[in-house]
Amino acid sequence: MAGAGSGYFLRAVERRSGVELRIKQRSAGDVGCVVWDAALVLAKYLETSGFYRDGLHSFTGKSVVELGSGTGVVGLMASALGAHVTVTDLEELQDLLNININDNKHLVTGSIQAKVLKWGETVKDLPPDPDYILLADCIYYEQSLEPLLRTINELTGRKTCIICCYEERTMGNNPKIERRFFKLLQTDFDIEEIPLDRQDEEYRSEDIHILHIKRKRRHQGIVTLK
Ligand SMILES: C[S@@+](CC[C@H](N)C(=O)[O-])C[C@H]1O[C@@H](n2cnc3c(N)ncnc32)[C@H](O)[C@@H]1O
Repeated sequence: MAGAGSGYFLRAVERRSGVELRIKQRSAGDVGCVVWDAALVLAKYLETSGFYRDGLHSFTGKSVVELGSGTGVVGLMASALGAHVTVTDLEELQDLLNININDNKHLVTGSIQAKVLKWGETVKDLPPDPDYILLADCIYYEQSLEPLLRTINELTGRKTCIICCYEERTMGNNPKIERRFFKLLQTDFDIEEIPLDRQDEEYRSEDIHILHIKRKRRHQGIVTLK
């Protein structure tokens, strides 16, 4: 990693095309100031062939909201693939998000903006029923679980696919927190795990899971007659 000016260190994320997203991380600050492994795995997964249909990337022209974006690497990858992206995080992460958006704007083929969104608070000015909601490494403390689920519920529409990537951690309370999150989530959502062989060949790991999550059909007002 090369230095990137005082207080920052750089993480270069190479795209399949060879160009790099150049992401500044802060040497001091909270968990959102660095790129987590789950974000790298998710960003690289978005580039895989499973997202191509008829020669077009599935993100082209799609609306995307990322929650707990941190440095913004995942949302930036989606915007470089043609999506219209809103990256969100707490107020204190907005400067870093805007620096990284500005530093990578030449790679954006869709659009990208940063907004404050604290989980559990009313969602304002975000696209209704986005095509995708992206989440990397956001399941990690007990008090956030219910607010995060409220935000996911409020944002998710009929067509929305949530792509969630998380690192399975075995220390302390982490297993309990993960179990509780997925138990609550399964009330309203169906979950499909993406096998390793459908992920990026290099950026994947047994400990890092990628899930596609969709609202259960009974919550979409669809009644199946027998
Ligand atoms: C472990 S970091 C992951 C950051 C980034 N997604 C990545 O994987 O590199 C968790 C992120 O969630 C954000 N976060 C935590 N609690 C939050 C809350 N209550 N509302 C909104 N964002 C929150 C943090 O600020 C941080 O950016």
